[in-house]
Amino acid sequence: MIPWANPLAQYRSHESEILAAMVRVLESNSYILGGEVESFERAFANYCGMAHGVGVGSGTDALILALRALDIGASDEVITVSHTAVATVAAILACGATPVLVDVDPAYYTVDPACIEAAITSRSKAIVAVHLYGQPADMDAIAAIGRRRGLRIVEDCAQATGGRYRGRRVGGLGDIACFSFYPTKNLGAIGDGGMVVTADEALASRVRRLRQYGWDESRNTLEIGVNSRLDSLQAAILHAKLPHLDADNVRRAAIASRYDRAFAGLPLTLPATSSEDTHVYHLYVVRCEQRDRLSAHLAADQIGSAVHYPVPVHQQHGYAERVIVTDGGLPVTTGLADQILSLPIYPELSDAEVDLVITSIRRYYALPR
Ligand SMILES: Cc1ncc(COP(=O)(O)O)c(C=O)c1O
Repeated sequence: MIPWANPLAQYRSHESEILAAMVRVLESNSYILGGEVESFERAFANYCGMAHGVGVGSGTDALILALRALDIGASDEVITVSHTAVATVAAILACGATPVLVDVDPAYYTVDPACIEAAITSRSKAIVAVHLYGQPADMDAIAAIGRRRGLRIVEDCAQATGGRYRGRRVGGLGDIACFSFYPTKNLGAIGDGGMVVTADEALASRVRRLRQYGWDESRNTLEIGVNSRLDSLQAAILHAKLPHLDADNVRRAAIASRYDRAFAGLPLTLPATSSEDTHVYHLYVVRCEQRDRLSAHLAADQIGSAVHYPVPVHQQHGYAERVIVTDGGLPVTTGLADQILSLPIYPELSDAEVDLVITSIRRYYALPR
């Protein structure tokens, strides 16, 4: 079976460096925060071109703590998309704020800036821009709205580590940025992990305080916080993998470009890319009629696929009644849910395996129907 994602293959391809990093931590007698976490925070912030990185327990916690550091809470509205991982919206709710969900651009599947403008009210406090599937959102337009309407900008970079918008790395395009190191992500841990990155020292120290009970450096409680620290073992593993990230992303892009060429002319909508941006293909998502039929055909050929995401967040149990959806609904978002399919893409996918995926899909479209 060719899985749609393969964190085990990623572990194997960096096995000796990962094991050496783990042994170093195990023998250090220091398992929480300390040097391993600090040095990875510096390296990762530096990779993003930012001054500060704060390692936290997950990408979801990165979003929660970033929003809390921006003083977002009850009575505030935060604008984001419904076509995203549930985590983006769950984080807004966890702060006590109300998510206002808007539609996405029909070509790029990232937030449509015109929809943001239409959703702003006197309670709006921030925009969470999600760089979905590895494609950066239109940050110039979003930042311009933020400046004009006095809204803070949070980047949800969980799916776009290493991506670039108009030549600039994601993570430095708003007030504060949040990353996930979930194992299947472009930079994946062997467990949960996340990072908040910002140029703003005050915001970084607020997140640092919130991730550990609201303590200052002398363990005096300054406010109520949580326990959400990036694990030292995960920090060491991620630090070992970071030097390989750019090459891994280049390999993802090469696979995407083979798919693009092979599927041109088939009745599939392929991922749109802008020549000004660097899409890092966390996912390669096609759009087609009868998506479940194509997925079943691939499965019969021992090829995995997945749907990101089958139910928009505003239609999910528990969320539907807690979010605001702008007038007219979210036609692009709801139209996508039945048609999108994520094909296998990860650096360790071999050329021969890419050929098998291509052959299977071409054969599917050659079948009589
Ligand atoms: C867009 C997006 N935001 C946030 C998250 C949350 O990250 P984590 O799973 O590390 O909490 C994810 C990953 O699942 C994601 O894809």
